[in-house]
Amino acid sequence: MSTSAAMEQLAANTDASVQRLLEWLSIPSISTDPTYAEHCRNAAEWAAAQFRECGLEAEVRPAGDPKFPGDLSKGGGHPIVVAKSAGDKDYKGPHVLFYGHYDVQPVDPINLWESDPFKPVIRDARPGEGGGKRIVARGAVDDKGQVLTFIEALRAWKSATGKPAGGVKFTVLLEGEEESGSVSLEPFVMKNRAEFADCDVCLISDTGMLGRGKPAITYGVRGLAYTEVTLHASNQDLHSGLWGGRCPNPITELSRVLAQLHDKKRRVTLPGFYDAVVPLTKQERANWKALKFNSKAALKKIGLPPAADIGEVGFTAMEREWGRPTAEINGIWGGYTGKGAKTVIPAHASAKVSFRLVANQDPRKITKLFFKWCKDRTPPGCRWELTDHHGGFGVTTPIDSEAMQAANRAIKKATGKAPALIKSGGSIPVAGMLRDKLGIDTIFMGFGLDDDRVHSPNEKFELECFEIGKKSHAALIGELLGG
Ligand code: BES
Ligand code: MN
Ligand code: MN
Repeated sequence: MSTSAAMEQLAANTDASVQRLLEWLSIPSISTDPTYAEHCRNAAEWAAAQFRECGLEAEVRPAGDPKFPGDLSKGGGHPIVVAKSAGDKDYKGPHVLFYGHYDVQPVDPINLWESDPFKPVIRDARPGEGGGKRIVARGAVDDKGQVLTFIEALRAWKSATGKPAGGVKFTVLLEGEEESGSVSLEPFVMKNRAEFADCDVCLISDTGMLGRGKPAITYGVRGLAYTEVTLHASNQDLHSGLWGGRCPNPITELSRVLAQLHDKKRRVTLPGFYDAVVPLTKQERANWKALKFNSKAALKKIGLPPAADIGEVGFTAMEREWGRPTAEINGIWGGYTGKGAKTVIPAHASAKVSFRLVANQDPRKITKLFFKWCKDRTPPGCRWELTDHHGGFGVTTPIDSEAMQAANRAIKKATGKAPALIKSGGSIPVAGMLRDKLGIDTIFMGFGLDDDRVHSPNEKFELECFEIGKKSHAALIGELLGG
């Protein structure tokens, strides 16, 4: 009964909800750059005000070293929003921890944006794009738009019943450092353990669907180990005519080492890398196959021919993304990269190297393995500088829990379609932390599409996805209340 009243409230506020999203998106909450610290605080305050309007108690709390607020490079942090609804006295459902992030990725390369990343625009789909109207802005889908689907559901239930969250017990944890590695989050959660340990399940809306019109629940995300390596050679840049052929060129040497990361079958060569990997079961492979994901069509959308369907031999594209670990070079630099020619042998060369992890692979162990592997291959006369940028564990959520079933029913009610059970190759480190430190499993109920340009220029969130998200969260609240 109340669910339909909440749905009516959503319908009556469609335009207002879009306006609220535009407002939040216009706050440039880039977490990695300290010059945006004030905007991060404003984005946090903006969200806290929303939660208060929905009848929750909300606080914007400091995180990280208080001496350097907003400067992550010095151990400072961006504020964390904590909001709570007490729940009805006779509420019997789970205490749900909703996690999201208000920070966004940097906008560069800025010249590839068709509109200002922080002046959100609503535009129609162009021929060939598919879908309908969309909001284009940094953070549209990752993660402000998705967090707002939850907040709008809270708002609808408050209007429909007069009660915060319609009587469901929620704790909200909204952080501002997810895109920068969530450095302050674990200490914050551990320090305030009592507030979170009591939660039964975590709910995150920061993932995607199987496709347009194909809602999904994500039951697992990969882990991540992120590193930076610099190879130092001479104590000065050198003339390549005088010194070339006489001493190590660190770019060449670094490339030679990194080129050994994969073998001919495109497997990762680090000894021990696969030790904690659990092989995919026949059943899982059959389930994924039945989803009929078209990897060739996906490649086409990013400008690649069918021949580009490459990766670890023996696995499909979906298996490689969802169920297998990888090693990637995310950046590599050194020497002269300006205009024209400069004949130089540089003193150093660097690369960002990261690993996506599955099952029980421990990011710290993987980083150690990698560093040892580098040291074992130290080119003659050179020296490594190795930096661990951390990461997090991957997680797989049990698919038969009550909360999972509630989410399943909710999405079905909201969209008329049973959600597909999918995994994602992306990483959401908080989920591993909550499982390991507090024993809490996460349900990922996300509404993104794989052409949303997450982290890229012209990021978008389609209004249809925003709608489905709001309705699914509203229906989930109904399910938690007992259906
Ligand atoms: N929301 C994304 C992760 C994601 C995107 C999961 C799409 C599933 C589908 C998240 O904000 C993100 O970007 N995570 C980072 C890791 C983080 C430690 C920087 C990632 O996956 O690279
Ligand atoms: Mn995200
Ligand atoms: Mn992201």
